[in-house]
Order: sequence, then C-alpha cells, then structure tokens
Amino acid sequence: MRASYSAFAFTGCILFVGCGHSSETNAIADDHKNATLQITTIMDPHSHARPQEAVITHLDLDVTVDMVAHTIAGTATYKLQRSSGDSVVFDTDGLLIEKVTLADGALLEYSLGDSTFLGRALRVAVPAGADQVVVSYRTGANARALQWLSPEQTADKTKPFLFTQGQAILTRTWIPVQDSPGIRFTFNAKVKVPNDLMALMSAENPQARSSDGVYSFKMDKPIPAYLIALAVGDIAYQSIDERCGVYAEQSMINKAAWEFADMGRMVTAAEELYGPYRWGRYDVIVLPPSFPFGGMENPMLTFATPTIIAGDRSLTALIAHELAHSWSGNLVTNANWNDFWLNEGFTVYFEHRISEKLYGADYSAMTGVLGHQDLMSTVMEIESGKDPQDTRLKLDLAGRDPDDGMTDIAYEKGYGLLRLLESKAGREKFDTFLRGYFDKFAFQSMTTERFVTYLNEQLLTPNKLQVDVDRWIYQTGIPDDDIVPVSDNFAKVEVEIAHWEKGTPANQLATKAWSTFEWMHFLRHLPGKLNEARMDELDNTFHFTASGNSEILAAWLEQCVSNDYSKSYERLDGFLTTVGRRKFLIPLYDRLIATEKGKAMAMNIYKVARPNYHSVSVRTIDDMLGWSAQNGTITL
Ligand code: BES
Ligand code: ZN
Repeated sequence: MRASYSAFAFTGCILFVGCGHSSETNAIADDHKNATLQITTIMDPHSHARPQEAVITHLDLDVTVDMVAHTIAGTATYKLQRSSGDSVVFDTDGLLIEKVTLADGALLEYSLGDSTFLGRALRVAVPAGADQVVVSYRTGANARALQWLSPEQTADKTKPFLFTQGQAILTRTWIPVQDSPGIRFTFNAKVKVPNDLMALMSAENPQARSSDGVYSFKMDKPIPAYLIALAVGDIAYQSIDERCGVYAEQSMINKAAWEFADMGRMVTAAEELYGPYRWGRYDVIVLPPSFPFGGMENPMLTFATPTIIAGDRSLTALIAHELAHSWSGNLVTNANWNDFWLNEGFTVYFEHRISEKLYGADYSAMTGVLGHQDLMSTVMEIESGKDPQDTRLKLDLAGRDPDDGMTDIAYEKGYGLLRLLESKAGREKFDTFLRGYFDKFAFQSMTTERFVTYLNEQLLTPNKLQVDVDRWIYQTGIPDDDIVPVSDNFAKVEVEIAHWEKGTPANQLATKAWSTFEWMHFLRHLPGKLNEARMDELDNTFHFTASGNSEILAAWLEQCVSNDYSKSYERLDGFLTTVGRRKFLIPLYDRLIATEKGKAMAMNIYKVARPNYHSVSVRTIDDMLGWSAQNGTITL
C-alpha cells in the first residue's frame, strides 16, 4: 500500500444509512435530504478529509473576487456532522489561511500538514458540541482551478474573465473543503465582483447583471466539491425555453443560442429515458476558448468550450453528454476517482441514447465508431506507457494525480460494457434497470463493487444472464465480447477514400451529404503519406484549413503536421495559441514532437501559447514537451 493511501486505511466498511426511497414523486422532493445521512466511510486516496470523524453538510461561501490582483478572498463557513474525534480535516492547496473560528468568532487552533501533490491537510481543533467552523482565507498565486483571462483572451476583448475548473482535485485550490467526490453538501454563496461583471455558479443563477456586483447563489441539493464552479465576466443571457438558456460573452450569445436550440428537447429526451431532471434549471455557459475541456457538468450550469459552436449544430452531442451527467455523475457520483468510469462510461452510454432519440441511429453509430477508434488508440498508447494497468475500468490512482488516469478508457471501455449489458438484457430491461439505479442511488456515491452487486441482483441473476463483468472491470485491455460499433455511412466514406487513392479527383468524390462525423472519418483514414500536391488538392477542394468546425480543422491539422504541409502552419499556430481544449492540443503537439523540425515548431508555438492555457492543459503539455526540464521549474 502506498504511503499516501495508508493514512486512510481505517477499518471501516462501506455503510449507508437512510438511503433509498420507493416512490418516484417522493424522489424529487426528499431523496437529497436523505443523502446527508449517508455515512461516508469510503476511502479516498485523493483527499485528506476524515469524514468518519467529521463531515461537512453545508457550506456558506462569502468571497470577493479581485480581477486585478487575481485573488479570491473571504470566508467559508461549514456545518459539520461529527461522529468522533476532536477535529475536522479539510483539503487545501496553495490557500493562505488567515484564521479559523467558531460561528461566534472564537478563534480555533489549526494546523497545516505537509505539502504534497494533494495539497495540505487543514486540521482544525473543534470543541465538543460545536458544529460550525468559519475559515477565513485567500487564494494563492497559483490557484490551479482558476484561469484569469485578460480582455485580449476573451471573445469580446473588453473585460477580464475568470472561470474555475474543479474536477478532479482542484476545488481545494480556491476553497478550503473536504474535496472528495464521496462527500456531498449543500451550499449558499455570496460573491462580490466588479460591478461591470456578472458572476455565475453551479447553482441557481441570475439572468442579468446586479447593480452592485454582489451575487447570491443557492445549491440546495448536496453535491461533491468538484462540482462547485464559478465564472465571472461580461456575460449575457439568452433563453431557449422555460427551463433552459445560454450564457456567453455578448459577441457570442446569438451564435451560442442558435447552436444550442435543441437543449430543451435534450432534457425532455433524457427524462423520458431515465427519470425526472432533478436540478431545476439547465443552462450552459460558453466560455472563452482556453477552457481546457469540451464541457464540464457543473450542476445547473454546464461549462462549455466555444469550439463546439460550429455554425451547423453538428457538435452539440457534447451538451447531451454534460446534461446526462445530471444523472450519471451528479446524482449518482463515483465514490472516488478510481471509480471514474461510473461517471463517464454511463454518461457516454446515456449521451448516445439522447442523440439517438434526437438525431437517429446513424448519428449515434457514427459517434460510436469514432469513440471506438479513440479507444483502440488509447489502449495501445497506455499499453506501451508507464502505467499499462490503466486500461482497467477500476483504476488504482493512489499516489498519482487522478487527472493522469482519466483517459478514454473510462469513457469508451465503460460505454462498451454498458453496450454489452444492453444487448444481453435487451433495451427494455436495461432501461428499467438503469432508471431504477438512478432513482435508488440518487444523491449518493457509488463504488464499482457496489454497482456490480446491484447489477447482479437486479439484472444479471434474475434474467439468468452471463456476462464476464469482472473481466471488463478488473482486467486490462478490451475483452473479446466487445460489440464493435459499425456505421454504414462510414463504409461509404471508406469507398470514397479508396476512389481518391485510385485516382478519382477530390472534386468528383461523393461527399455532398456528409456531416461533420463523415469528414472526421475521412480525415482520420487518409492514406499514410501525402505529398504537397495531394494535400493541395484536398484543401483546395474541401477548404479544410479555412474550416470553422474545430473537429474538422483539428483532424486536418493533424494530417498537415504528419505530412509537413506548411501552407497550414499559420492556421495551426493560430489554433494552438487560442484554443486551450486539451483534447485538441494533445494529438497536435504529439504529432509535432515526432520530428526534430516539428519539435522546434512545437516549442516556439508553446512559448507563446502556454500563458493562454489553463493549468490542466499546461500540466499535460509541459510533460509532453519536457518543458520544465528545459525551462526551469515553473510551478503551476
Ligand atoms: N467531466 C468531464 C470533464 C473532465 C474529466 C474534467 C476529467 C476533469 C477531469 C466532462 O463531462 C467530459 O467528459 N468532457 C468531455 C466531453 C465529451 C466526452 C463529450 C470533453 O471535455 O471532451
Ligand atoms: Zn463526461
């Protein structure tokens, strides 16, 4: 057992109290209240918290955001549920703790543990009977959850912007908190920002700017710390329907609202599949392009990259994905990051079901094939890397930054297992099972083991189904019973590629009806080595370099790097210096560093681009390029 884990190896079994309810109508009203009764004794190798002694049940956050000094400062007041001991332990990372008091202001003793990749444990001595503590703090210089953007780094270019990214263990860099996905609490927040800016959180949100820059938020359902999020900027709002709307900078708002017109239908489709949407409103905020992910499922307010605004609504499945997390992830939450596949695998499955309802089986088949292609290359990459065991669904991330083990495996292998279960059980039975799962475990955390027990009891045993679930979960690689997705549309794309290889000019290929996904498949399967004339032919015919569709552009730019097609290098440079979405950055830098010339280019681009990236992308690309070794240690 690794050192970082052993501190948490207390002999507690997983014990749940007061969970479950039966009737669906009660579910919405009552189920989250029960969740706070859940005694969390699930070990989390990535948190210092000792919930078996004292666990937080509610946070009152009162902070001021300084957009010039780049700090967040104020108080975090916690309600505690205490079981034993004389202290409460929080996670912090880079925070400056000013004082800790009781609600009446009486000072409490506290200590900060050693600094590791998990940050520092804040242990507060709490007198017997006390159930509230107030932590006064400010963020430090490298609060990795936060990205402070200058006006130039935004779409409008007039006002600064701030957004947070909590998952996996970054919330502790801006709030002292028990930062474990197995610990849930409600929160209220008062956030003061400059009065020409608007603040939004993963909570009930304003739709217009306040006159004094003070915003109040309420999240009355218990959520884990990684789902607390804040965005501050010159943000506009546009409604889609009664419960859905879009936030974005002024210059993006109309485009964003047009692109996401289907949001309301997505929520309805999701509800038809797996039960009521329990969070009230569902809104999306489109962030500046440095946002490191496609999307982040912050409750009530999905954070999204502007790179899904393609102008043709073709990339909005990402919204279906983040929406699906309102069930898989936010309602039933992975107990710790080793169980990450329970969040993402279920969400990919659910996302496909929503897309299929809205856009049909061909659509879902195409995204299924693309995802499977990603899975196979991820498996190869992991198998040849330093942690080959990371192709298991159940991970062992103790002693490592969880971010390093969060790969396509959780998403696509996880989806593969659910696809298999669906095919064995039949759709109807599988849907009943899943719906029951979300209802039964709403507002609770879930371990892989607990899921397997429930699966056996509710689906496999009663229906006498044989699936080697353990093989999928606890062993490496992709099992033989994987149902590989196929797409007729893609078969047609492959025919056109073959024609082009045999000499049919690009402008005579049958590409007219192609969607973004067909183009992606085309670009991924071009012949190995293309000379400049061949690349010219493609670009002059299909205008890839000028594409405003980020998926098509990124796939094309990968080809450009591999084929050293220098006519697109300016575009590549521009893309890499403005877009911070890690999914696009990794393959592009990866291809660049495959040659000496490319490596030099990568370094030159990165020098300029790095200050535009959020810390999670910086960490990954630093590592890929060996940046710190060459440029001294830069702490981020
Ligand atoms: N929760 C993830 C993003 C995430 C994962 C943040 C791990 C931090 C650590 C989000 O739901 C997600 O999966 N985003 C994908 C979207 C895609 C699969 C549709 C992304 O950002 O690419
Ligand atoms: Zn996800």
